[in-house]
Amino acid sequence: MAQNATLTLNGKSYDLPVIKGSTGPDVVDVRKLYGDSDVFTFDPGFTSTASCESKITYIDGDAGVLLHRGYPIEQLAEHSTFLEVCYLLLNGELPKASEFADFEKTITYHTMLHAQFDRFFSGFRSDAHPMAIMTGAVGALSAFYHDSINVDDPEQRRISAHRLIAKMPTIAARAFKYSVGQPFVSPRNSMTYAENFLHMSFSVPAEDWVSNPVLTRAMDRIFILHADHEQNASTSTVRLAGSSGANPFACIAAGIACLWGPSHGGANEEALNMLMEIGTVDRIPEFIQGVKDRKYRLMGFGHRVYKNYDPRAAVMQKTCHEVLAEVGHGDDPTLKVAMELEKIALNDPYFVERKLYPNVDFYSGITLRALGFPTTMFTALFALARTVGWISQWKEMFEDPQRKIGRPRQLYTGPLRRDYAPLETRG
Ligand code: ACO
Repeated sequence: MAQNATLTLNGKSYDLPVIKGSTGPDVVDVRKLYGDSDVFTFDPGFTSTASCESKITYIDGDAGVLLHRGYPIEQLAEHSTFLEVCYLLLNGELPKASEFADFEKTITYHTMLHAQFDRFFSGFRSDAHPMAIMTGAVGALSAFYHDSINVDDPEQRRISAHRLIAKMPTIAARAFKYSVGQPFVSPRNSMTYAENFLHMSFSVPAEDWVSNPVLTRAMDRIFILHADHEQNASTSTVRLAGSSGANPFACIAAGIACLWGPSHGGANEEALNMLMEIGTVDRIPEFIQGVKDRKYRLMGFGHRVYKNYDPRAAVMQKTCHEVLAEVGHGDDPTLKVAMELEKIALNDPYFVERKLYPNVDFYSGITLRALGFPTTMFTALFALARTVGWISQWKEMFEDPQRKIGRPRQLYTGPLRRDYAPLETRG
């Protein structure tokens, strides 16, 4: 039954429609409020605001549930592959065998970069952060693919989405190779998505590179865990940039820039740095005291939406153990610090009262380091995997007939109108 909420303001009542989703909180539709009543709603940080309608990802933060197109993340991480999850996020359904074969072929076909594109990398200092390179390089893709940037054409949107998913591993691997002074490695079409990425990152011309199935599966799972997360800061950035009709490569570059921040994707790098700085289990109490004294935050802990264990963190923890055992680092001291820190934090009233639990970044750093990546690559890997989420959300926005340019309003608290005074008259 249709419901309304009533807002009473200065003695006048306004009926506001309440809209139900398939699950999750109802929303109060305030779209006509300003026109009818001359007031705005105020919600900096969007803590109570649904910025769009979406059918892609659902999070129940209190229950620690994450679903992509209805499928629980645990099931996808256990049974699916990253490319299959890409298809699911983009198209809404798991592919039939023939659909998947076509999709895999298409993505494989687009993995190479234009030869001219490699010149971008050499324009950066050798100590450039890979995220700086990623932001610049992905934005530059729009200069190479003029044939797929008409955002009003569904076919061009589809091709751009495929190009982005296919080329991100090649770009990320080149950013890594550039930072370590090794030659770029071309993509190999006979390999799976994750295997090809590890190959482009770690093979060198002087030796034969041998793929390791445990590490390949872990890489693929890490990609699945980061594939999408509904309307987080970087996804909202991509949608907002896209709402003006900007081309998809520029929008994804904007998303990468937003992801870089330490409160968002940059937390995986910060979390491992923090664990290494703590170093040994005996230093944890002193560190926890510093958190309580608000000198710093426990990185990889807390989440705007999850007020329970982040389901991705649980899978990541398991993957972390598998990778460390495989590379012979089962007794990694950083893992010991992480596990003890988690145990202490989960029982400490400071963290319990604030519902602070490990998020996906808490264990991802240790895992990625064991796979062979330096900390500076961590957020770049997150960006690689999140590209499918960003582009799926961007595509969904264009398929929505109600699409409008995103244009928030504000609560103005600055000076009132005043007259300009010439420089010589100012005292
Ligand atoms: N360590 C210590 N205290 C924390 C932490 C933390 N990691 N996170 C939140 N708090 C405390 C705050 O100090 C605040 O306490 P108060 O009410 O006494 O002032 C309370 O918990 C609420 O914190 P907010 O900052 O209001 O929560 P918000 O939802 O805005 O922040 C965020 C979420 C940014 C993720 C935060 O938890 C944080 O900074 N975490 C560390 C960084 C991190 O791991 N980011 C990754 C997020 S997941 C992702 O992007 C993949």
